[in-house]
Amino acid sequence: MNTVYKFPDGFLWGTATAAHQVEGNNYNSDGWLMEHLTHSLYLEPSGDAVDHYHRYQDDIRLLAELGFNSYRFSIEWARVEPEREFFSQAILDHYKRMLEACHQNQLVPMMTLHHFTSPRWLIHEGGWGSFETAARFGEYAGLVMRELGDLAGAVCTINEVNIPTMARMLWMRHMDEEGDNDEDGDSFYRMALAEAATRFRVPIEKLKPFMLATSEHDREVMLNAHQQAALACKAEHPDVPVGMTLAMADMQAEPGGELIRDEYRHELQDIFLDAAREGGDDFIGVQTYTRERYGPEGLLPVREGAPVTQMGYENYPKALEGTIRYAAAKSGLPVYVTENGIGTSLDSERLAYYRTALQGVVACMRDGIDVRGYYAWSAFDNFEWNSGYEKTFGIISVDRETQKRKVKTSGFWLGDVAKANQYPID
Ligand code: BGC
Repeated sequence: MNTVYKFPDGFLWGTATAAHQVEGNNYNSDGWLMEHLTHSLYLEPSGDAVDHYHRYQDDIRLLAELGFNSYRFSIEWARVEPEREFFSQAILDHYKRMLEACHQNQLVPMMTLHHFTSPRWLIHEGGWGSFETAARFGEYAGLVMRELGDLAGAVCTINEVNIPTMARMLWMRHMDEEGDNDEDGDSFYRMALAEAATRFRVPIEKLKPFMLATSEHDREVMLNAHQQAALACKAEHPDVPVGMTLAMADMQAEPGGELIRDEYRHELQDIFLDAAREGGDDFIGVQTYTRERYGPEGLLPVREGAPVTQMGYENYPKALEGTIRYAAAKSGLPVYVTENGIGTSLDSERLAYYRTALQGVVACMRDGIDVRGYYAWSAFDNFEWNSGYEKTFGIISVDRETQKRKVKTSGFWLGDVAKANQYPID
């Protein structure tokens, strides 16, 4: 017999975006500079993106019309503090209008304070390798909360605070496999770093935009930044829930791979989940796209014949159930799925992905796990960092010549699920 699972009242259904990926012209940020190097590691620059900076009113109304009751977006530090200790009231007012637009459309705003990009001056001053940055981030968080906190539904401090650690592990694997040779890719990468260091006016070993701050020391800086920001937020608005978000693959062990999987999982996930619990965070943000399989020798390649996404990793929507269970058990905190989705040019594939992923959410909740919201990545096809605009994660496509939006079938479908606040189970 077909029956339905009713989500609790107040469950948040939304989509997520990040300022740099959708707003356009974030030219005071480190990301913009990196995109415009002669040796750029980006396929193309972000440019006008999808001009969300000017079109947010219509965009937010569209999301509400689809049926969502929440929207997760980020405040851009590089805009709010374009020069050290110079804060722009006009920019704060802009984000205030965005938050108000959410409320006018009955969307609970979830506000992210840092989503990968930082002000350029910060990188010149040591970036994410310096404990000074943690203090500055705390100050910025306090200011944003003082100005905007009464309109915020929840706050994510740092988006995927563990992703630079993931980059380090990937790099170590690459070195193990290839050795430290000077093949074309490696030397281009080194030239890009050297050029960036010159442009930011720092020695290369001090070049620490978020994504390049990969050492254990840098991880401490980031966790400290999270703590300082969380404290500052709580000091201004104790009632607004605050947490960090993590990039979490479902890390599975094939026979004999348990030990090495656990070692990797310790570095990539446990350290952060423990910090969230010990720091007294209000929730943990789970961001899942795929799984990773580990054998006795380490990470295994995607199985031959397995479906893959545009990103090259396995299309495996069941991963979400595994990561929610793991994050909840390890952190002991309520969970928001702050990102989940698939890069694909086939919207039917996206729809199928969401169907299965949501079954996983329901299974977790029926087992009593405290999941409080689900945010699809992403509202729009947008600037997918190094991959530019080629990879498409949106439930809404955008013609970047005209900036016209077109809702995909998956968008209507997900909005209907949100509106109904229930999901079939068999
Ligand atoms: C990031 C997003 C990114 C998405 C898809 C997440 O790691 O938070 O900014 O676009 O994954 O790759």
